[in-house]
Order: sequence, then structure tokens, then C-alpha cells
Amino acid sequence: MNIAIIGYGKMGKIIEKLAIQKEHSIVLKIDDSNLNELTVENLKKADVAIEFTGPKVAFGNISLCFDAGIPVVSGTTGWLDKFNEVKERCETEKQAFFYASNFSLGVNIFFKLNQQLAKIMNKFEGFNVSVDETHHIHKLDAPSGTAITIADDIISEVKRKENWVKEKTENDKQIAIKSFRIGEHPGEHTVTYSSNTENIAITHESKNREGLAQGALMAAEFIIGKTGVLGMNDLLNI
Ligand SMILES: NC(=O)c1ccc[n+]([C@@H]2O[C@H](COP(=O)([O-])OP(=O)(O)OC[C@H]3O[C@@H](n4cnc5c(N)ncnc54)[C@H](O)[C@@H]3O)[C@@H](O)[C@H]2O)c1
Repeated sequence: MNIAIIGYGKMGKIIEKLAIQKEHSIVLKIDDSNLNELTVENLKKADVAIEFTGPKVAFGNISLCFDAGIPVVSGTTGWLDKFNEVKERCETEKQAFFYASNFSLGVNIFFKLNQQLAKIMNKFEGFNVSVDETHHIHKLDAPSGTAITIADDIISEVKRKENWVKEKTENDKQIAIKSFRIGEHPGEHTVTYSSNTENIAITHESKNREGLAQGALMAAEFIIGKTGVLGMNDLLNI
């Protein structure tokens, strides 16, 4: 598989290492020092693009890959206000796009656990629910895309919750998502249900970024030859 890595930062570099171990070829590597090489002509040399950049540039990068007619795997968070435009291009032009707010196997199992726990807790009104997330200090967006997915999944199941807010709330209909930024922390998410007498908490903790990179590479292998918007449910079938 010929891969274009768009965003040769922390994630891009680990993806490159794992891709080479799996005997894939990296035909293009882009970071903010060689943006002039990010062209339709160069992208056409790749079978797939893997995009881990930043919230301000992700949509433009994905659009350019579609102009080149190559499938895109993106893990960049914080740009999802443009998601419908990407979806529309997939539908009208038969493009392929794979997005996950978190590519790790463990987090996607955790998502399922969170949904099931939320289904149970819907019946127990004495418990309030909150979400905490911790990441490294370089992370640009807060709350994390993963924490937002977790909160949205709770809101779908727990009828007494209507929306999420950052940090704190006195409103019973809202879920507070608290964000912590510590050193080079690889990422942790905790959902806590708390009553006057007890707490129930579930936590996922990343040990490093390799699990995320492995998932993104699996997604790239998976998306080739497909069309439409795909995600971890399609890949993992949990
Ligand atoms: N979905 C997931 O599983 C997951 C996992 C880790 C990180 N992320 C997200 O992925 C993104 C990148 O994370 P990171 O830790 O690798 O960040 P990073 O800052 O280490 O790397 C970002 C890279 O993008 C490059 N870049 C900047 N502008 C660009 C442009 N216009 N085109 C191409 N490249 C450009 C930068 O030079 C840098 O090399 C962030 O949004 C982060 O939140 C998602």
C-alpha cells in the first residue's frame, strides 16, 4: 500500500514506523515545513492518505485528497463542524472517508461499555454523571474528541441529560466534561456516576500512542476499494 502521511507530527511519525514494519511504502510526508508538496499531483501517487494535523487545516487537507480521488483516514479532532460537507462529497462523488475520534481498540471497547452502562443508569435517577479527560499539554482542543463521543453516547441513552458543557455545571440536564493537561500524558478518560452514597467509575488509560497508530493503519488498509463514510464500528464490528 502506498501511503501519503499528512501531518508528520507525533502521530504521523509512529504511523510511518508501523507502516514500514508492515512493508507499506510512504510516498509523501507533509508537515508545515513542506506544504508546497501537498498537491493533487503528489497525492495521486498514494493509494490512501492518513491525516493527523490540526483543527484549522484538516478539512482543507481532506478536500484536497478528494480532489485527487484518494481515500482519506483522518484522526484530527476539533473540525467536525465541517463533517457534513465531507459526508456530502462522499455521497455525491463516491469518495471514501474514515474518521475516528479515537483509533485505539481499547477506547472503542470502552465506548461500547459506556453505552451499555448508560443504558442501565438511565433508570437510576439518583446518580449524576460526569466525564474527565487527561492529555498532554500540546493538545490544542479541549474537551478531547473522545470525551465528546463519550458524552454524546451518554446523552443518547440517559434521558435526563440533554447536552454537555466544559468543566462545571449546576444544571442537572447537563454533563460536565473536565479537561486536564499534564506533561506528555498519553490520554485517559473516566466516566463517573455519583449518588449521595456511592460512585461507579469506568476508566480507559492509554499507555502510549502506538495503539492509536495501529488503528489508523488498519483503517487505511480497510478503506481501500470502499466508498462512503466509515468508522471504527465498521472496522472492528464490536
Ligand atoms: N483520533 C485519534 O485517535 C487521535 C490520536 C492522537 C491525536 N489525534 C489528533 O490528531 C491531530 C494531530 O495530533 P499529533 O499529536 O500528531 O499532533 P502534532 O502537533 O504532533 O502533529 C501535527 C502535524 O501536522 C503538521 N501540519 C500543520 N499544518 C499542516 C497542514 N496544513 N498540512 C499538513 N500538515 C500540517 C505539523 O507540522 C505537525 O507535524 C490532533 O488533532 C490530535 O488531537 C487524534
